[in-house]
Formats: sequence, structure tokens, C-alpha cells
Amino acid sequence: MMFEKKQITSNPQHIAFIMDGNGRWAKRQGKPRTYGHYMGTYKIEDVVRWCSNIGVKYTTFYVFSTENWKRPPEEINFIFNLLVEKIEEFYERMNKENVRLRFIGRLEEVPENAMAKCFEYEEKTKNNEKIQAILALNYGGRSEIVDAVKKMLDQDNRHVDEQTFRNYLYAPDVPDPDLVIRTSGEMRISNFLLWEIAYSEFYFSNLLWPEFSEEELKRAVEIYQGRDRRFGGIK
Ligand code: FPP
Repeated sequence: MMFEKKQITSNPQHIAFIMDGNGRWAKRQGKPRTYGHYMGTYKIEDVVRWCSNIGVKYTTFYVFSTENWKRPPEEINFIFNLLVEKIEEFYERMNKENVRLRFIGRLEEVPENAMAKCFEYEEKTKNNEKIQAILALNYGGRSEIVDAVKKMLDQDNRHVDEQTFRNYLYAPDVPDPDLVIRTSGEMRISNFLLWEIAYSEFYFSNLLWPEFSEEELKRAVEIYQGRDRRFGGIK
């Protein structure tokens, strides 16, 4: 009996990252949790470059969730101060590399100085086209769906189907993630991109976010390429 060779799934065009394990990584180094977040920001840049090198066009990073407000105020302040302090150099390097920066989430609820920078760099990079780096900030998958419903109601739009609904999401033009990578060995979605991940493939890495590497990214992509994506159909 002859078996057909398994079809190779092509390159992912969108990879979404749940960057987990910053706190544990820092603790292992005998440092405060915040040091992990500090180092984690540099990892975002590396990952955007590595993804770009293998032809990925969209990357999304879960920076701060709607549930992260439950953390101690000092840690929340640290993350937003880090964002305000680091985002300018982040923007400068990413802009030189033709990266388009975008933000999704309830930005109107983040500290005003952070929000202003997000809008500024989104505008300044809007014509960059090598790859998109989308930062999810004060983001929740359920809030995104609720916000979409509210926008539809505000416009008195009663024509609801999947395609029209999608147009009310935070970044409707961005294709759904092909692959979601979560670091640190945790195996859950934590309210990330709930609508968009309906048919995404998942890769759970045991590495903590600050130690995530190019080899690990390539391994995840290789495993993804060996998967048989059927989107509910049969081949
Ligand atoms: C998860 O690790 C990480 C976060 C909730 C924050 C991620 C934020 C950054 C990397 C800063 C982004 C800044 C810029 C400029 C884009 P964790 O704290 O949950 O780690 P743990 O599970 O070990 O406690």
C-alpha cells in the first residue's frame, strides 16, 4: 500500500507570541522580576528580525493584558515606564529596518504619555512594509469582541456575519495568526486573540521569554510546516 507524502504547510505569514516567563527568568538570575521585563523588550526586536529573515510579514506580541492590572502597582508602573523610555529607541531601530509598528488593545486606558507615543510611532511607520510588529497593550480577546459589538451598535449596524464582524476588530486587515508561540511551558491562551486564533497552530516552548532563541523559532516553524492544516475539511 502506498501512502501519499505529507504535504508541507508553507511559511507562516503571521506569528503571534505570548511572551511568558520574564519574572521567573529574572528570579533565576537573582534579580527583581522587572529586570526580566527589561531584557524582554530587546527580545522583541530580535524576534521581529528573525521573523523578517524567514519571510514572515506580521508578528504580534502580548505586552500587557487587560488582566495584568491585577499585578502590584510597582510592576505595572515599571512596565509602562519601560515602554515610555524604550519605545523611542525601539521605534528608531525598527523604523530603519522598515518595520511597521502597530498597537492593539484599549489604548485609551493606558497612561497618557504611553498612549501618545504609541499613536506617534504608529503614524510615523505606517508606510513601512517589510514586516509589521503589532504590540498588544491593555489587550484582551474578550474586550476586543465586546468593543467590536459596541462599535457595531454605535453605527446601528444590524447586518452581522463573520466577515462584517471582523471589520470591527482592532486590526481587521491583518490576517489571522498561522502560528501562536507561547514561552515558559505554560499551555493556555490567557485571553489572547480569541477571535483570530480559530484555526491557528500552537507551539509551546519551555524556554522563558528572555532566553527565546532563533533556533527555537526555527524549530517552531519547522514543526508548524510539518502540520497538516485542514481548516475543518479533509484532504
Ligand atoms: C510575562 O512574563 C511578561 C509580561 C506580562 C510583560 C511583557 C512586557 C515587556 C516585555 C515589555 C514591553 C516593552 C516594550 C517597549 C514593547 P511574566 O511576568 O508573566 O513572567 P512569570 O510568568 O515568570 O511571572
